Amino acid sequence: MHIATFGCQMNFHDSEKLRGVLEEMGYEPCDSEGEADFIVYNTCAVRENAEQRVYGRIGHLKSLKRKNPEMIIALCGCMMQQDTVIETLKKSHRHVDIVFGTHNIYKLAELLDTRLATGEQVFDIWDSYKDIVEDLPTVRKDKFKSSVNIIFGCNNFCSYCIVPYVRGRERSREPEDIIEEIRTLVSDGVVEVQLLGQNVNSYGKNLKGPVTFAQLLKRITEIEGLERIRFMTSHPKDLSDELIEVMASSDKICKSLHLPFQSGSTRILDRMNRRYTKESYLDLVRRIKAAMPDIALTTDIIVGFPEETEEDFQDTMDVVREVEYDSAFTFIYSKRTGTPAAVIEEQVPEEVSKDRFNRLLELVNGIANKKSLAHIGNSYKVLVEERNRQEDKMCTGRLDNGHLVHVVCEPEMIGKIIDVKITDGKTFHLIGEIIG
Ligand code: 5AD
Ligand code: SF4
Repeated sequence: MHIATFGCQMNFHDSEKLRGVLEEMGYEPCDSEGEADFIVYNTCAVRENAEQRVYGRIGHLKSLKRKNPEMIIALCGCMMQQDTVIETLKKSHRHVDIVFGTHNIYKLAELLDTRLATGEQVFDIWDSYKDIVEDLPTVRKDKFKSSVNIIFGCNNFCSYCIVPYVRGRERSREPEDIIEEIRTLVSDGVVEVQLLGQNVNSYGKNLKGPVTFAQLLKRITEIEGLERIRFMTSHPKDLSDELIEVMASSDKICKSLHLPFQSGSTRILDRMNRRYTKESYLDLVRRIKAAMPDIALTTDIIVGFPEETEEDFQDTMDVVREVEYDSAFTFIYSKRTGTPAAVIEEQVPEEVSKDRFNRLLELVNGIANKKSLAHIGNSYKVLVEERNRQEDKMCTGRLDNGHLVHVVCEPEMIGKIIDVKITDGKTFHLIGEIIG
């Protein structure tokens, strides 16, 4: 079996569940698509170029299937929740066997049975979720760390974003189920968890006994044996003082925060339906930094949103300069059919967007480099995560604040937390040496 994942952390975690289900059915993982008898593409719909890449790869699978007619091809994830995609697959990609969406991963075994029994293409896309299914078999990539879903879906309807249409409305898992899952993970060797949600700050609002995200986090810090807690993503409009307080008061909660601002222009933010202003965002950042001076902030930024002027773009550059992000994901606006922004008439010409994108990237990378250099000479706790892919004798790990560091160390240290002194800093990673 070969699973290819596109998109965000949520999809990567879903793929760990898909792998668990497939392993229970007797399939074994393999790296190469050519050797696989079951191929799954877990797709992303956030930007158009990700969709184009998937179509390209689906086309390529046709020749592989000619060589191995028994091969089963399954497609799932956000892209499959769109009617136009389903129509295209039915019309032009008859070699695809099974198609399902974001709400019914756990049905995979049943869908395969239907495919084998009927010999027909199987499409099973649900408009919305039925239940949150607990206890899916999951094969996690790393022994020592794991993602944990806390809330699914999104209710925010940012005007550019397809996610609320493909992942459905917000629903939170019960805190007891989350805590139980983390306890089990810890007893199986996990020292770091990453709590996942499109907007973790909305956690708990629709539960029978409402709980805030900060309260959940506090309960998770009490789990013995768990060393590090991360979470993403935070919507700035919902980030509470209570959360800042809980974060600041626990050593287990990593001092890093992914806080997408998307645009620095209050006018564009309003068009994006983000429900905060440039000033309120900057004020929030000031409060976060006052409570946690060492915090590393990361963000997502979109350039070329419809009607964005040079002046609006300069507001975005201002925010980047003032906040000084440790790193930022920068995107050129991609028009998504079905979203409100797609019908705004005044779209920004591609060459204007590209030019803004390049200027933004230069600023972002310059600041990231400066932030990186500021670590030199300091010592940090590092969770060693994997062998370095380029340098044989090195491993790569992460500081509490999320920065990557390459260190000369034995692979036996993978999964352990060690003390490291930083000796050099590059734009995207640090170099360090073990101390003690
Ligand atoms: N175009 C470009 N970027 C987008 N994102 C979401 N929708 C779009 C779009 N239509 C970006 C946002 C979000 C990240 C996950 O993807 O910055 O935070
Ligand atoms: Fe998309 Fe906005 Fe929801 Fe994030 S908060 S998933 S950008 S609609």
